[in-house]
Amino acid sequence: MKSETCEQSETFETFQNLGNSDELRFDQNRCNEQIKGYAYIYTIGCQMNTYDTERLFFILGGLGYAKTEILDKADIIVCNTCSIREKAQEKAFSFLGRVPPLKKKKPHLITIMTGCVAQQEGQGAFKRNSTLDIVLGTQAFARLGYHIQALMKGKNQITDINGSSTIYEAMPDFSFIENDKVSRFVTIMQGCDNYCTYCVVPYVRGRERSRTPDSIVAEITILADAGVKEVTLLGQNVNSYGIKEKICSFPDLLEKISQVSGLERIRFATSHPKDLSDDLIYAMRDLDKVCNQLHLPVQSGSNRILKKMNRGYTVERYLERIGMLRENCPSVALSSDMIIGFPSETRADFEETMALVRQVEFDGIFAFAYSDRPNAPASKFSGAVEEDEKMDRLNHLIDFQQGITHGKNKALVGSWERVLVEGLSQKKRHHGGDYLPQMTGRTESGKIVHFLGKNISPGEILDVKIERAYPHSLWGEYTKEL
Ligand code: SAH
Ligand code: SF4
Ligand code: F3S
Repeated sequence: MKSETCEQSETFETFQNLGNSDELRFDQNRCNEQIKGYAYIYTIGCQMNTYDTERLFFILGGLGYAKTEILDKADIIVCNTCSIREKAQEKAFSFLGRVPPLKKKKPHLITIMTGCVAQQEGQGAFKRNSTLDIVLGTQAFARLGYHIQALMKGKNQITDINGSSTIYEAMPDFSFIENDKVSRFVTIMQGCDNYCTYCVVPYVRGRERSRTPDSIVAEITILADAGVKEVTLLGQNVNSYGIKEKICSFPDLLEKISQVSGLERIRFATSHPKDLSDDLIYAMRDLDKVCNQLHLPVQSGSNRILKKMNRGYTVERYLERIGMLRENCPSVALSSDMIIGFPSETRADFEETMALVRQVEFDGIFAFAYSDRPNAPASKFSGAVEEDEKMDRLNHLIDFQQGITHGKNKALVGSWERVLVEGLSQKKRHHGGDYLPQMTGRTESGKIVHFLGKNISPGEILDVKIERAYPHSLWGEYTKEL
C-alpha cells in the first residue's frame, strides 16, 4: 500500500479530547502517520449531506483512510443517502448493488450506509443489501470510527440509529478540510419541527436543533482564514434558527457572521415563508455581505393544497412577503420549490400554481413530482394523481419557467456584475491572438458567469460585463489585463 502522511492527525486529537463518551474514544493507534487504505463516499441528497460527507472524510482520515474518487481503489465505501423522494432512496440501493462484486475481489472491503435512508431503514437495510457492514443514522455519524473499530474486532452488521445532541459541537474545527474551495457550506441547525404532511425530514433528521452562534462563527472564521470567501448557511428552516434555544435570532447571527474578516459573501437556505420576518428582510437590505438572493419554497399556488400540506401560510401571505422583500431589496433573485401532483391536486389547483409562477416571475424553480414517503401523513391521503398526469403538469411548469429564467438572464445583458471567481475550467478560448483560460464565477444573485481571464485566481471578486445570456448561465467580458 502507498505510504503517505496523515495530515489530519493533529486536529483529530482535538476531536478526541472533545468526546467524553466511549463511542468517541477509539483506538489511539489509528493513524500511525501512514495511510492504511482509501475511503470512497457516494453522496446523494441535499447540501447538508455534502457537508456531512466532509465530516465523514475527516473521521475516516483520522483512522488512516485517505479520500479516493476511484471506487475500485476503496477499502471503505460509504453511501451517504437521501430519502426525500422514492427515487433518491432507490439511487442509494442501486449504488450499493455495485458493491458485492467488489467485495468478492477484496474481502476486507467495508461498506457503510449513512444519512436519511439509513436512519429510516435501520436494521432493515441489511435485508436490501446483505453485504452492508454498518448502518449509521443521521445523528450517529460521529461514532463512525468507534463502529469501524468494533467491526475490525469481529462484530458484524452494526446498526446505530440512536440520537446525539452534539454531532457538530463535538467537532467545531474540522472545517479546514478541502479549504481549496472559495465557497463552503456550513450547517447551522439540524432537523425540522414543521411536519409538512408530505415530508420525511422530521422523521429522519429529528427535532430542530440549532448550533451555538459561537461554534458557527468559530468555524466560519477558520474557513475565512483559510481563504474561503463565501459561506452558505444550511438548515431546513434557517428563519427559525435559535428561537427554540433562545440563543440568538437568525438576523443577529447574520450580523455576527458579517463581522468575520476576509469573508465576502453570505448565502443561506432554506427559508420558510411562514417565518420570513421583517427583521430578516432588513438584514438582507442592510448587511453588505448578505447576498441579494432568496430561496423561498412555496410548494403550491393553491390555498387548499397548502393547507393540506400543513405549510402554515396562504398564497396571499406568500405574495405579501415577496412584496415587502422586493420593496426593500429591489434586485433580489428569488427561487422556489414546487411539488406537483400532491394527493387530490386538481387541474384547477395546478392552474393556480401556474398563475403564481407567472405572477412572481422567479429567477429559477426546482419542481418535483409528489412522492409518497414512509411516515409522512400525506402518503395516507386519498386522491392520488395519476403518474402520467403528474408528469404532464410537471413538464408544463418546467417548460414555462425555463422561458422566465432565460428572460431574467437576458435582462442582465449589458449590465456589470460583481463576480466571485470560483474556478477555471480546462477549456481555453482564442482571444486576440492568444488562448485564454475560461473562468467561472457567480454573481451576487447566484447566477453562473463564464468569462475569459488571464492571471486571475479563484477567490477574486471582479466586475464583469454581461454579454450573452443562456438558459442556465451568462457569458461575460472581463476587460482588465486581456
Ligand atoms: N426545508 C425545505 C425543503 C427541504 S426538502 C422547505 O421547507 O422548503 C426540498 C424540497 O423537496 C422541498 O421543498 C419539496 O419541494 C421537495 N419535497 C419534499 N418532500 C417531497 C415529496 N414527498 N415528494 C416530492 N417532493 C418533495
Ligand atoms: Fe420538510 Fe416542511 Fe421541514 Fe421543509 S419545512 S424540511 S418541507 S417538514
Ligand atoms: Fe434528503 Fe435528508 Fe437532505 S432526506 S434532502 S438528505 S435532509
